Amino acid sequence: MMNEEIPNLTAFDEAALEAAFGSVEKRARAAAAALNGEAAVEAFRLEWLGRKQGRLTEISARWLKAAPAEAKKALGVRFNALKVIVEGLLEQAEDAAPSDAALAGEAIDITLPGTRRLTGAEHPITKILNEITQVFAALGYSVGVGPEVETDFYNFECMNFPPGHPARDTQDTLVISNQDRRPLRDRLLLRTHTSPVQMRTMESQPPPVRIVIPGKVHRNDAADATHSPIFHQVEGLCVDTNITFSDLKGTLDHAMKALFGSAVKTRFFPSFFPFTEPSADVQISCIFCGGKGCRKCKNSGWIELLGCGMVDPAVFAFAAEKQAAYDPKKISGFAFGMGVERIAMMKYGISEIGQFYAGDMRFLGQFA
Ligand code: PHE
Repeated sequence: MMNEEIPNLTAFDEAALEAAFGSVEKRARAAAAALNGEAAVEAFRLEWLGRKQGRLTEISARWLKAAPAEAKKALGVRFNALKVIVEGLLEQAEDAAPSDAALAGEAIDITLPGTRRLTGAEHPITKILNEITQVFAALGYSVGVGPEVETDFYNFECMNFPPGHPARDTQDTLVISNQDRRPLRDRLLLRTHTSPVQMRTMESQPPPVRIVIPGKVHRNDAADATHSPIFHQVEGLCVDTNITFSDLKGTLDHAMKALFGSAVKTRFFPSFFPFTEPSADVQISCIFCGGKGCRKCKNSGWIELLGCGMVDPAVFAFAAEKQAAYDPKKISGFAFGMGVERIAMMKYGISEIGQFYAGDMRFLGQFA
């Protein structure tokens, strides 16, 4: 086959070499110019540069080996130059070749729909977070945020959890390592609640304050169907003159009705938080059975949903160090904090908290 096309060389003078290499180069150029399509380019590559049967291999085998010693150098130089030329031709042909699909008439059909990207949608937690903030925004609350990596001072001390206070044990804390040389109040931790942002807000602005603070919090809790070491809260703080417990009750009763429907009732139970006094847990009438009693509410007719209370004067005293207007003799206020996952699970009827974080599109798509 192709080997026949490579003649044997009988003379090795300059003129003979020039003629022999010139004719091969001409053929290579002609063949390259006629290439159309990926398959033809590949055939050209094999025909000319194939390691075992390619023409260049053949030339090197026949001409180089047959050459007398004094002609070998000149022949080698010409051979290398030819190889560079043929490789260049191949490269050009590869760049220029239309794809075989295009040659076969399968050119891009611009009337076909493109590859669609899925439109993103809000995660159910984000949705509920926004819904809760909206309810309070409508009451004139602004929205604030604070750092997730917090100091011991803001997470605990200024919220009236003194060092060593047993109430700290109710929020099993993840701390940042290697800080033993810092004073306790400066040591960093992952905030266990959004309450530190109450203090950050009061330090940065005088009363009156009405603010909701959505955010991520961390606790060293074992994960189970209803607990996750990372979850979300919405904190609320209202400070003004003459704010009373009735304001707290009215505000939260309204918020629960706005979130769960106007038929929902609320009730307040005495509780304890270091930063509120008095403190309360808020229950709503069971949204599944309407209060008659069912499995979801453990037959009580009520479901516990959030913590709240009147801001403790000790907290105002810390705020007053930066903003003197937080004088507990002149102002008062209430605060509340709710778990977003818990509310989302209730509203959507979800029984496994882990579903929120698993990233399973079949689950998330239902909220799009
Ligand atoms: N920070 C409290 C918690 O995480 C909730 C709370 C906030 C209670 C504000 C009262 C007032 O448990």
